[in-house]
Amino acid sequence: MDKLILPPEEIRSLGRAAVEQIAAYYDTLDERPVLIPTTSRALRDLLDEPLPQNGMDFDTLLRILDEVIARYSRHSAHPRFFGYISSPGTPVTSVGAMLAAALNINVTCWRSGPAATDLEHVTIDWMKQILGYPAQAGGLLVSGGSMANFAALAAARSAKATGNVVRDGVAAAGRMCAYVSSAGHFSISKAAGMLGIGEANVRSVPTNAQMQIDLTALERLVQQDLAAGYRPFCLVANAGTTATGAFDPIGELAEFARRHQLWLHVDAAYGGFAALAPAMRPLFAHIAEADSVALDPHKWLYLPVGCGCVLYRDPATAHAAFSHAADYTRAIGLERDEAFAFWDYGPELSRPFRALDLWLLVKYVGAARLAQAVEQNLDCARYFGELVEASGDCELLAPVGLSIFCFRYAPRGYTGDLNALNERILVKLQRAGSSYLSNAMVHGKFALRGCVLNYRTTRRDMEVLLEDVRRAYLDLT
Ligand SMILES: Cc1ncc(COP(=O)(O)O)c(C=O)c1O
Repeated sequence: MDKLILPPEEIRSLGRAAVEQIAAYYDTLDERPVLIPTTSRALRDLLDEPLPQNGMDFDTLLRILDEVIARYSRHSAHPRFFGYISSPGTPVTSVGAMLAAALNINVTCWRSGPAATDLEHVTIDWMKQILGYPAQAGGLLVSGGSMANFAALAAARSAKATGNVVRDGVAAAGRMCAYVSSAGHFSISKAAGMLGIGEANVRSVPTNAQMQIDLTALERLVQQDLAAGYRPFCLVANAGTTATGAFDPIGELAEFARRHQLWLHVDAAYGGFAALAPAMRPLFAHIAEADSVALDPHKWLYLPVGCGCVLYRDPATAHAAFSHAADYTRAIGLERDEAFAFWDYGPELSRPFRALDLWLLVKYVGAARLAQAVEQNLDCARYFGELVEASGDCELLAPVGLSIFCFRYAPRGYTGDLNALNERILVKLQRAGSSYLSNAMVHGKFALRGCVLNYRTTRRDMEVLLEDVRRAYLDLT
């Protein structure tokens, strides 16, 4: 049998075995440790081999996948995985990955994938509807929040530079600088570095007690830059910071940006889908005033890794930053919508069919159920905040922002270094495998940090988490 050209019955047999494994994985998630500690050496010993010349049977490969890859993975779909900002993925998109790979559409432009391109436009419209972003806005799916922030800053740079920055480079545009709160994500500085603006020219604006951008400090920094001959061009608002979930006041920042002719970009990579929860909608009241928005379906819309989204209020600004014409990409015999190319609006040429997952999930599950899941996540985080406040041995280090909580273990009468103690608790907790937190620094204090981003997580899981933290402490002493 030629394994590249399989007969249909063989494809069915591979598919059945793989789907069986997927179902078993989801079925046993709750019983697995979130993480089994191991080392890179141990994994290399299990996986290393010379380039295999001959194929092997699929069942053996599935067994390796289960016994090595799955076993030694950190399970972001586990109900008590609270680390970073990680989505759990969903069963329907697991199956969707198979279907997308079979179609293998390279969604570069309409003619490369007519239906896939229109499907992406449809899903982008849904993203706008969720946020309350203008209908005439444009956008596209990218690999994640970092790439969405990069694309937005590239559009901002072109829109606000004097002259043609894409053709002539940033040197001709003067010393451009941007502003984001000190709680902003590092992908903003990284984008500035890649775009030739320079990481040092992203001003880190101090925050207030709620970890929101301090508008007085922002005004001071802009005035200093103007006096020093810089060209302020972009203000980034956080719609849910990575460390604490803080939400900057978008309306006030929009007004500030207008006054100073700055491009307003909203990094809603984490917090954007909080807009699905009616109680959170007021936070998004002014989102339509933003020039661009980054949001990540692969965070709080539960999609598997690989799906971010950037929205541009005026798509022409993105076109000015990205459009390119080459002989080999020229659309012949096509006009308007059929001549549309994603590479004119973002950095990539070859692109996977990201919209399939998004479409499958929303169509299969429905936005109402997704909104309910987001509300449940918000409730779990709030509930954990209450548990901590009532605990007597833990303290909250920041207000519970959206679904993120930051706290530390602080036993009564403890006179040692609480930062060092909590670092040790974190490592102990992660290695124990029942619950998983990550860390953050909040006002100089080491915080145990969690983000509820899983539709499986319940209030009971939050109670177990607190018990696990206490057990980790006891295991240290
Ligand atoms: C606020 C914010 N922006 C951007 C990013 C980057 O997203 P990605 O990891 O998808 O590149 C993150 C990641 O956690 C984030 O929290």
